[in-house]
Amino acid sequence: MDFNDIKNTADKYLMPTYAHFDLALKSGDGATVTDFENNQIIDFSSGIGVVSIGFGDKDWANAVANQAEILSHTSNLYYNEPVALLAKELCTRSGFDKVFFCNSGAEANECAIKLARKYSFDKYGKNRFNIISLKNSFHGRTMATVTATGQDDFHNFFFPFNEGFKYVNANDMDEVLKLTKSNDVCAIMVELVQGEGGVNPLDKEYVRSLSKLCRDLDILLIADEVQTGIGRTGSLFAYEQYGVMPDVITSAKGLGNGLPIGACLCKEFLSNVLTAGTHGTTFGGNPVACAGALEVLKKVDNSLLDEVCKKGEYIKSRLKDIDEIEEIRGMGLMLGIKLKTLDAREVAKICAKNGLMILTAKTLLRMLPPLTISYDEIDRGIEILKMALVPKGE
Ligand SMILES: Cc1ncc(COP(=O)(O)O)c(C=O)c1O
Repeated sequence: MDFNDIKNTADKYLMPTYAHFDLALKSGDGATVTDFENNQIIDFSSGIGVVSIGFGDKDWANAVANQAEILSHTSNLYYNEPVALLAKELCTRSGFDKVFFCNSGAEANECAIKLARKYSFDKYGKNRFNIISLKNSFHGRTMATVTATGQDDFHNFFFPFNEGFKYVNANDMDEVLKLTKSNDVCAIMVELVQGEGGVNPLDKEYVRSLSKLCRDLDILLIADEVQTGIGRTGSLFAYEQYGVMPDVITSAKGLGNGLPIGACLCKEFLSNVLTAGTHGTTFGGNPVACAGALEVLKKVDNSLLDEVCKKGEYIKSRLKDIDEIEEIRGMGLMLGIKLKTLDAREVAKICAKNGLMILTAKTLLRMLPPLTISYDEIDRGIEILKMALVPKGE
């Protein structure tokens, strides 16, 4: 098929839920992909923070292919080796005690929501079910997670939305204190760096106050680390840099390096809340996805995490003299670029035409390159970005 065949077929048969760029990808190597006209494109997007260890990683591909040949699936009625090993690795590395595996970020958050509500139900009865989330957050597209998403734009069309979600402005502790007075809140759910909402890191003091309040009131602090986790911000999970230990965290995206996987991790005191029959999913803990995720975790070691921090700083330094850029914010390789005059979507389109995939978040450009991106790929990508940001002749 050539590009036009692919585009026409996809447009004819796929529900039009995505605003596609005029680009179809054929193959990838590291942080460089190739399109159907054999053009090379630098990838500052990694499939929206998914291809964490880059395209074509041999160890990952071998682990996945090998597992697909040995045993592609067991139902969760039977044990399998990759899921046991991955559960141990994730819990040991993160300091959490139990994990539930699923297939996406939204499902991981669904699990966290159910876990919080049942914990509260078991201990306090029926009416303590509210979950506080932050305005401008993004937690997924299922009915519960789209309701948890604190953006009015998302709360349309699909009425009725789920009961039991309340929203506060990020970094405003007074609002949280007001809402928790009525003793009907079971959890506070946050992204430590809001991704889709415009790459907004939460204030450290605010997160510490939330953590203390949660402990005092026996409310669960849930950190949605679907985008920030698995090394993206320069630590395995972002909470490590906030000096707090949430009660529950969720992960997905980068854990799979491209295969669908999600995870909800909790502390020991929550270990027995979700029991047989109360939660589950057919594909969760799939051995092929788990075998791949184990390779991802092997690669995301301390030296890679160091590199993530260094590359993030390097990108900032390479962009600091561009007049059109008002601000660069974020952590590690999760960066948002606020522009002074240009429209970020238009800039992303120009970049795509010129050989760079870059994302947007609200009015910002957003970078989520593979964590393994080379300095040469960074330099080549930045040259293309500069062409779109710097007027000709400067
Ligand atoms: C912070 C956060 N939570 C949840 C999700 C939903 O994940 P998924 O698309 O895998 O369901 C996303 C996806 O962008 C996300 O960024």
